[in-house]
Amino acid sequence: VVAVYEELDVFVARNDARRLAARCGFGRRETEEIALVVTELATNLIRHARGGEIRLQPLRDPERGTGLGVTAVDRGPVIRSFEIALLDGHDDVGRIDPTVKRKGIASGLGCVQRLTHELSHSIVDGGNVISAVRWICPPKGTRA
Ligand SMILES: Nc1ncnc2c1ncn2[C@@H]1O[C@H](COP(=O)(O)OP(=O)(O)OP(=O)(O)O)[C@@H](O)[C@H]1O
Ligand SMILES: [Mg+2]
Repeated sequence: VVAVYEELDVFVARNDARRLAARCGFGRRETEEIALVVTELATNLIRHARGGEIRLQPLRDPERGTGLGVTAVDRGPVIRSFEIALLDGHDDVGRIDPTVKRKGIASGLGCVQRLTHELSHSIVDGGNVISAVRWICPPKGTRA
């Protein structure tokens, strides 16, 4: 578990994820992709919530094999529509005006979705819980 309240914490979370992924047996490229997932979720904690935490969990499943769970937990504000937030160029309510200057192009969660096999959002105690799972070489056609 890594508490994420400032930029430096994002580095810590990313490095922990790299180390853990490598130890779980993920390849170099997969490990870097997991590092990206953690970076995006952790950056969102700073940018959109008032900080939070990243939880990393090695997983074993009889069918899926070895995986790594990445969960971002915050205390809100809640994401109004996770479905919309997943879309590139959208915040949690709709498309972002491309002429408005802002940080990022709102493709962070889309990136997380593309680099993981399972992704879910729930609201717990007025905050967000975003859970992602990346498996090592999942069987074909099993993408959640
Ligand atoms: N932890 C969070 N708490 C509250 N809202 C969030 C959180 N994470 C994401 N969001 C909402 O979901 C939207 C989409 O997130 P996403 O990471 O895709 O884009 P972004 O952070 O705005 O830009 P980018 O990640 O490309 O720099 C955000 O604009 C924000 O409205
Ligand atoms: Mg983001």
